[in-house]
Amino acid sequence: MKKKVLVVGGAGYIGSHMAKRLSTAGHSVSILDNLSTGFKHLAKHGELFIGDIGDKACLKKLFSRYKFDAVMHFAACSLVGESSTNPEKYYINNVSNTLVLLDVMREFEVSHFIFSSTAAVFGEPTYTPIDEKHTTQPINPYGASKLMVERVLEDYAQAYGLNSVALRYFNACGADSDGELGECHDPETHLIPLVLQAASGRRKSISIFGEDYETRDGTCVRDYVHVEDLCSAHELALQKILHEEGTAQALRYNLGNGEGFTVKEVIETAEQVVAEDGKTILVEHAPRRMGDPAVLVADSKKAELELGWKNKTHQVERNY
Ligand code: UFG
Repeated sequence: MKKKVLVVGGAGYIGSHMAKRLSTAGHSVSILDNLSTGFKHLAKHGELFIGDIGDKACLKKLFSRYKFDAVMHFAACSLVGESSTNPEKYYINNVSNTLVLLDVMREFEVSHFIFSSTAAVFGEPTYTPIDEKHTTQPINPYGASKLMVERVLEDYAQAYGLNSVALRYFNACGADSDGELGECHDPETHLIPLVLQAASGRRKSISIFGEDYETRDGTCVRDYVHVEDLCSAHELALQKILHEEGTAQALRYNLGNGEGFTVKEVIETAEQVVAEDGKTILVEHAPRRMGDPAVLVADSKKAELELGWKNKTHQVERNY
């Protein structure tokens, strides 16, 4: 059945892909974004409202106008390094403002919520791949802010009947297959877009942050999960909470490929592609970046079994 969905942060990277997926599937999409890191031109698959989730009056106006079946919340500050130097920004935007959104949802009796969480809730992993049973001990305010909201969602399920799913993304990457949307941050800090900028001459070089980790080539291993696969997980999560009767739940799933690639492997792959056009990528060697765990790889079995999620972009043989 077609639903009315509010995509908060729908002018950002993952949110814009999600709005497109929902509207392509025939759902009615509204987008709320304050455009602090999002872009108006990316919010083309839904009706855009420019506003902040911390602004209760603005939210009330929007919720009075439409009866939403569900809210998907992508709006957050998400730079690990910045969160350590400016934690207040993270606790206000990611925690306090999310509470305002949840408060208005409760007032307007909207009880289905999909929340963008992160691998950063785990901190330094004690084993890998990381499943949902792994302890959560974030090592930076960004991860802590996301974990706080996960805890809030648990309590709100019990007390207020809020049905929610927190999806912990590992390293989101890629662009939509029509080539219409893509990853766009300003400033850009993520490895893949930076490598592509270096390959296309938009930046001079790419720096490798640390080559003395205990990994196969000394550089950090990450689990790069395609944005379209993340969106399919959101769609399945939404179906699950919309259709399951009974006591409200706060569910959590880790989303990744289950296979990690080193920083050097990412760069080498890009080098092979651009070599076909006679281009090279200039690599520089830099010290470790603070707060980077050596290996972050997801175990997404739970999402596969409970949501029926399949990672279409990157398939690994599994037996269970
Ligand atoms: N890296 C480089 N050079 C660069 C940029 C990155 O070597 O110029 C390395 C990083 O040190 C890291 C890897 O590339 O080892 C990936 O870095 P990204 O910045 O692309 O991504 P992160 O792993 O730091 O961050 C991602 C999400 C965060 C989330 C985090 C979980 O973007 O939101 O995973 O730890 F919190």
